[in-house]
Amino acid sequence: MAEDARPKVRVGILISGRGSNMEALVRASLLPDAPFEVGLVASNNPDAPGLAIAQSFGIPTFAHSHKGMKRAEFDAIMARELQAAGVEVIALAGYMRLLSPEFISQWEGRIINIHPSLLPLYKGLDTHQRAIDAGDREAGCSVHIVTPELDDGPVLMQARVRVLPGDTADALATRVLAEEHRIYPEALRQLAAALRDKG
Ligand code: GRF
Repeated sequence: MAEDARPKVRVGILISGRGSNMEALVRASLLPDAPFEVGLVASNNPDAPGLAIAQSFGIPTFAHSHKGMKRAEFDAIMARELQAAGVEVIALAGYMRLLSPEFISQWEGRIINIHPSLLPLYKGLDTHQRAIDAGDREAGCSVHIVTPELDDGPVLMQARVRVLPGDTADALATRVLAEEHRIYPEALRQLAAALRDKG
C-alpha cells in the first residue's frame, strides 16, 4: 500500500521522570504507518531521565522547573513551547502536575493521559498498593482524555492484569507497566488517525 501522504498529527509529550511511556510513544511514532509524529518532549523537571532518552531519538526537548511559580503562569510557559512546536495533541506520560483549565482549553479533547489503575478506581497515587489492599483480583491501566479533574475524563482504552497471590506493589507495577507500553501507543494511534480523518 502507498504511504499516506497526509501530514502526521504532531504530538507533544509531557514528562516528569523516567519516561518509559514516552519512549514507547516515540518508538511507535517511528513506525512507517504511524499517523502521528512527536514534535516536542517537555518536562517540569529539568533532571527527568526521560529527557536524555528523547534526545537520543533526536526529539527536541524543553525543560523548565515549576518551582516557585503559580500554576497558570507555569502552564503558560509550557503552552507557548508546545504551540511553537506546532503541537496538536498532548500525551501526558508520568507528568506529575495538574494542568490549569486555561491550558486544557487550548487543547480541549486532545490531551490524553495514562494512569496505572482501572479507572474510575484509584485516582491519584499508590494505585497498585491500594488495589492489593482492597483484595482486588484484577488491576490494570487506563488511557483517558484529560479534564481539569485529576485522573478523570472519558476512558479511551484499558488493559487488565491479574493480581497474583503474594503480589507486591512493585511486582504488580512491572506487569501493569508492560501493558501501559502496549495500550498507550495504540490509543494515541487511534486518536491521531481519527483526527487525521477529520482533516
Ligand atoms: C506510569 O506508571 C504511568 O501510568 C503513571 O506514571 C508512571 C510513569 O512512568 N502516570 P514512566 O515515566 O512513563 O516510565
